Amino acid sequence: MLRCVAQMQEETDMPLDMLYDAMRHSLSAGGKRIRPVLIYEFCRICGGTMEQADAAACAMEMTHTSSLIFDDLPAMDNDDMRRGKPSCHKAFGEAAAILAGDALIVAPFRILANHPALTLAQKIELISVLSEREGANGMIGGQLMDMQFETQEQVTADQLETMCLGKTGALMEASCKMGCICGGGTPEQQQAAAAYGRAVGLAFQMIDDILDVTSTAELLGKPIGSDAQEDKKTFVTVLGIEEAQKCAQELTSYAHAQLDVFENTEFLHALTDALLVRVQ
Ligand code: IPE
Ligand code: IPE
Ligand code: MG
Ligand code: MG
Ligand code: MG
Repeated sequence: MLRCVAQMQEETDMPLDMLYDAMRHSLSAGGKRIRPVLIYEFCRICGGTMEQADAAACAMEMTHTSSLIFDDLPAMDNDDMRRGKPSCHKAFGEAAAILAGDALIVAPFRILANHPALTLAQKIELISVLSEREGANGMIGGQLMDMQFETQEQVTADQLETMCLGKTGALMEASCKMGCICGGGTPEQQQAAAAYGRAVGLAFQMIDDILDVTSTAELLGKPIGSDAQEDKKTFVTVLGIEEAQKCAQELTSYAHAQLDVFENTEFLHALTDALLVRVQ
């Protein structure tokens, strides 16, 4: 991934060190890399190689990182720490952070378009899935709903679910589906992977909301109590911790069942359970 950034830098004479530093700062800060892991694993169980998944894995981590840079901005969640380091705008200023996020949003399309291990048809499919699930009808739309809910007094569990299926579920869904596309999975496998990703994504956000209340900034690498401070409507405020944990458990069971159409799923089953009891 960092090699991709270095390669892009070599291709321009413009003095853009600060932009690349800001991109690298957030990308290399040490996130959990869950989405790339899902891409590699779905590619593998569909019969693909690691090389076939490389571009999609890098692309997705860049897309996800851009969403985190924007998510931390003062206009959004206003958080000063991310992945155990100052958030991008704290380290480089708001303008550079916005532009680093922009650059990380578009770089994936070039990486996918140029990767030699993918066929033309795979590239088009990957770009289509990523742009659709990242866009207004997916992650970005979910982020807008999240912001709008701050000033909305009543948010129902259904509304919260719709918002989280967008802001978090959409990129998880895209990751699983893109892994299948890289590995040459069947339409049935792609569909099951997408359903798995949506369920795991929703459960992931439930645990994220719980950890914002119960964990520590040292463990999480990001501030705790941020949701209450911003008046966020979360699975904790709408359902309560116990019920949110129960829902995450149910979604996890549903996610396990989606893996039935695949073989060699031991790692994915173990990962699914590990995400439910994660502390980071
Ligand atoms: C954080 O995602 C944002 C949410 C969708 C809850 P992660 O918890 O995967 O963040 P990193 O990539 O490990 O930093
Ligand atoms: C963020 O959700 C989802 C995206 C960045 C798309 P949160 O705002 O809950 O994520 P954290 O808690 O800041 O990581
Ligand atoms: Mg947010
Ligand atoms: Mg946030
Ligand atoms: Mg959160």
